[in-house]
Amino acid sequence: MKFVFLSDIHLDINIARKDQKFMEKLIQYLSSITADILIFTGDIAGKTQQVIEFFEATSSLPFERKLYVPGNHDIWVHQDAQDLSKVKYYDILPEIANRYGWDFIPNNPLILDDIAFVGTMGWYDYSSRNKIWDSKLSLHDYSRKIHPQLNVELMDRHFVRFGMDDQSISDVMIGDLARDIHFVEDRVPIEELDTMFVLTHMVPFEQFVHYRGILRFDYFTAYFGNYTLGDEITRISKRVKVESVFGQVHHPMTKQLSVDLQAHCVPIGYPREYGKQISLDKLFSTRIKEYSI
Ligand SMILES: [Fe+2]
Repeated sequence: MKFVFLSDIHLDINIARKDQKFMEKLIQYLSSITADILIFTGDIAGKTQQVIEFFEATSSLPFERKLYVPGNHDIWVHQDAQDLSKVKYYDILPEIANRYGWDFIPNNPLILDDIAFVGTMGWYDYSSRNKIWDSKLSLHDYSRKIHPQLNVELMDRHFVRFGMDDQSISDVMIGDLARDIHFVEDRVPIEELDTMFVLTHMVPFEQFVHYRGILRFDYFTAYFGNYTLGDEITRISKRVKVESVFGQVHHPMTKQLSVDLQAHCVPIGYPREYGKQISLDKLFSTRIKEYSI
């Protein structure tokens, strides 16, 4: 079975370069790939309208299934909204994805013969922070998502309205994933499964988080991942072969973490990161991953 992995296209940023025709070229590129399943692990755009445009534009791509888990940007809502991010995650995004022929994987695991797909957006619990700064930055400093003295601010602070603190969102996401894994096991004996794909937006493993050793840059690493989520994924890999796919950090990388656990970070990222000189074809061919099992 052949897969295409893709993440973090951030349409609001990438589409702003109108000359580049980002979306058209992306569709063209994806159309040229022959594969069974497209996997997208979050961060389409903050605006719901752009999320809809992405699903609509990709609806007729010739993959048998298209699987989606949202990213933190995808649950952005108006600053005055109370807990609408929760509604966006659990109700609105699944509805939009389904409308355009995509499978929304969180809370809705998919089993195709002997391959299972489970997933959750996941959420940051600051476990991925650079702990060398713990004497200078408290967990409270991270929970505020702004540090005026360092002149840093995480935009989720304005646009994510989940109605809970970060640790509670993280707990909910991990609980959702555990329940979805049980759901799969109830239907297929684990020894009959060939592979379980675990799709998340957040980075589950420390091997994918890099520190610069500069306080105001490292501040943001607290929001990159969730290692408790990684522990959960590692636990499953003791019983069945696992492919972990995610985005969130904009450094593409694949690592074999153990005999039965391989992890893939597959982001497109921002122009300022990948460099404006690179052609989109080159960008896509280096960052969109084709993978077979
Ligand atoms: Fe993200």
